[in-house]
Amino acid sequence: MKVTVKTQNPGDIPSDLLVIPVFSTTSPTQGKRGQSTKTKTSPSLPRAVAALDKALGGAGQAALESSDFTGAAGQKALIYPVKNSSRVSRILLYGLGPAEKVDAEALRNLAGTAADEARTRKLAKLSILAPSHRGLSSEACAGALTEGAVLGAYRYEQYKSNGAKKTSRPDNYGPLRQVALIFPDLKKPAPVRSQVSTAEVASHGQNLARDLSNAPANALPPAALAREARRVARETGLVCRVIRGAELERGRFHALRAVGQGSQNPPQFIVLEHRGARTAKARKAAPLCIVGKGITFDSGGISLKPSGGMQDMKHDMSGAATVVGTMQAIAQLNLPCHVVGIIAAAENMPGGRAYRPGDVIGSRAGKTIEITNTDAEGRLVLADALDYAVDVFKPAAMIDLATLTGACMIALGEWATGVFGNSDELSKEMADAGQSTGECMWPMPLFPDHLRIMKSHIADIKNSGAREAGASTAAAFLKEFVGETPWVHLDIAGTGWKSPKNSYQKTGATGVGVRTLVAWVKDRVQQ
Ligand code: BES
Ligand code: MN
Ligand code: ZN
Repeated sequence: MKVTVKTQNPGDIPSDLLVIPVFSTTSPTQGKRGQSTKTKTSPSLPRAVAALDKALGGAGQAALESSDFTGAAGQKALIYPVKNSSRVSRILLYGLGPAEKVDAEALRNLAGTAADEARTRKLAKLSILAPSHRGLSSEACAGALTEGAVLGAYRYEQYKSNGAKKTSRPDNYGPLRQVALIFPDLKKPAPVRSQVSTAEVASHGQNLARDLSNAPANALPPAALAREARRVARETGLVCRVIRGAELERGRFHALRAVGQGSQNPPQFIVLEHRGARTAKARKAAPLCIVGKGITFDSGGISLKPSGGMQDMKHDMSGAATVVGTMQAIAQLNLPCHVVGIIAAAENMPGGRAYRPGDVIGSRAGKTIEITNTDAEGRLVLADALDYAVDVFKPAAMIDLATLTGACMIALGEWATGVFGNSDELSKEMADAGQSTGECMWPMPLFPDHLRIMKSHIADIKNSGAREAGASTAAAFLKEFVGETPWVHLDIAGTGWKSPKNSYQKTGATGVGVRTLVAWVKDRVQQ
């Protein structure tokens, strides 16, 4: 699937489906029970499609003059023209709501719906007329439309006997081959095209993260996750190193090994490096590190989880998936900086060799940890990963992503990722990046008292505290392993996967964080 920018007349571009955005003109003063008021005026077609609509016998105009299409946000009307002398075979009118409220997220929804419709109908050529909108530059508009289209066309159907293969490969979007974004009055297409290709790369990275997170745990144990990381490295020029077996022991990854020891599928520690610095100054600069929790299945271990919903714990490596997707995008964009992706992968299983509640284990940092709950495993594998990152790479900034706590999911739901850290500046950078990508990042507290809850009587620290403030006490545990490094922890327990879908987010893994991290790294290199 390829996204292109076209400046021709919409009627001259061969399209199986042309999507036309329509602003509503109705004042929002609706009657109490939703009945329309007398002030309603019909919405109008964009100027660029006036000629096309004539060629279709005025079908679009007729739909707008009917009283049921108002252009309200998300409203759709599909038209199969009877009389047609254009190259467009179907039209979808899509309501954007009042023009002054339209933002990038509205455009992602528009393009997401468009791509979803095209894929559901097995169409090959989709065109989307870009809304002309004063509030958004053509570049921003093109970026958002591209993201919506690539994410909205995603399906996870590789286990359906007649389904498509991995959707994260650009050539695997089923019959959908081409998405044309039409900017009829565009004077300078070059910057718009470059925005489209950046957004395409980032969104394909996000779809890769979704493929990895959606994979069943039997298909993607830690070693298979490492293989996927190696494949991405080979294809994009990243440097990949995998530490496993005796080398993990020699490297003192005690916490990671303890979590993985109950499983037949041994833990793997994965490092992906983008050495993209091009100037002498950039080469001397400390790298950025992104660290992901890679629990390929979290049964809870001996502190076994209840069975309801346990199947979702195949997604407990969503942080790791986001790291792989982000590193792929950073490599493909060849951003001029040094970025390191780090993944601690293990499977948390009960069994004769499993670690137990009451065990005291070591960690790479040298701290001893009393295990009070084997289901608090994410912070253990991250403790070794964060310590490794700080020790080996001395990063300028470090971000970790983890489906870490049910508490964070309860606090923020599927609407926001929890942001914790030791640097207000870095937290703000993440929130700003999330704002630009539509991925909400919400600040959460991390008090010295949260660490007090994690004090152990017999070891340096214990791995689970009380129920209260569970997301913050988990973050306080992690903080013990980052030293002075500016660090942000993103708890994606609520945002890593979804049950209901919206226009560009299908049921299942979201790949949350990929576009935000790419935006963040891009911002850092531009500073
Ligand atoms: N992977 C889970 C957190 C999780 C739960 C994410 C539900 C998404 C949905 C994590 O490993 C876990 O089990 N956390 C425990 C920690 C507790 C034992 C201190 C939790 O949140 O209950
Ligand atoms: Mn757990
Ligand atoms: Zn977990």
